[in-house]
Amino acid sequence: MIAVITGATGGIGEEFVKRLISEVDFIWAVGRSENKLAALKEKYGDKIIPVKADLSSREDIFGFCSRIESEKPSVKYLVNNAGIARMVPVSEFSLEEISDMLDINDKAATLICRACLPYMTKDSYILNIASASAFQPNPYIALYSASKAYLLSFTRSLNVENEGITCTAVCPGWVDTKMLPKTDENGTINYPGMVTASKVVDVALKDCHKGKDVSVCSFYYRYMRFLSKVTPHRIAMKMWVRAIRQYI
Ligand SMILES: NC(=O)c1ccc[n+]([C@@H]2O[C@H](COP(=O)([O-])OP(=O)(O)OC[C@H]3O[C@@H](n4cnc5c(N)ncnc54)[C@H](OP(=O)(O)O)[C@@H]3O)[C@@H](O)[C@H]2O)c1
Repeated sequence: MIAVITGATGGIGEEFVKRLISEVDFIWAVGRSENKLAALKEKYGDKIIPVKADLSSREDIFGFCSRIESEKPSVKYLVNNAGIARMVPVSEFSLEEISDMLDINDKAATLICRACLPYMTKDSYILNIASASAFQPNPYIALYSASKAYLLSFTRSLNVENEGITCTAVCPGWVDTKMLPKTDENGTINYPGMVTASKVVDVALKDCHKGKDVSVCSFYYRYMRFLSKVTPHRIAMKMWVRAIRQYI
């Protein structure tokens, strides 16, 4: 029995490695850096099976899916965690950067879900790491936010289609990982309601075991989710832009 974890070499992904390693025989740890994968194996031992794949590459995504199809492992947990973000207007992205972000954040996660599903049984779990930014449109992280809204919607539907396999969209707000720059030219950046990766994973595992299709790890962001449901998005977007104005 295995766990598949993408973006396993740091941040939230490594926290999933820590928590799941005692529950499965092997962890297929997907990452793009051979050195980081080797360090992960060194740290956590022989249960780590390093899988080198750049999830912005069609060839690597399809290559990994083919490996799943040919080895037919029994998959207890699939954690689609790899993701990238950038806070700039869409007009400042190159076409290649847009394509890479959508491939990593959405295409890879979708194809890996499809590849793993035949090898999952009742009491298996898919955790797709989305974001609280999925709850409403967010200018200046428009692509990231839209890519996570896709993942939220996709995961909830997948949960209904696959009885017995719990599919959970994990939607944290700000998380203290290397994804977030800590300072800019104005000094320290303030991230309201920021939590640790450990907290995100704790709550995500509890929620998926309870059968929840969405996991939001703090009261602050559960409240933000409620607000985004009751506030017209036109107004919610204005509030968001006002909150981040100093950083854009
Ligand atoms: N941090 C936050 O505030 C926050 C909030 C909500 C949701 N999330 C989501 O949480 C997930 C994990 O992020 P994190 O905060 O733990 O950040 P992180 O430490 O930067 O982790 C991102 C992971 O994705 C991997 N990755 C990036 N590009 C890749 C590629 N082309 N191919 C394969 N792997 C790739 C990274 O590998 P490398 O080490 O090689 O770069 C890294 O392991 C992401 O999906 C993110 O969107 C984060």
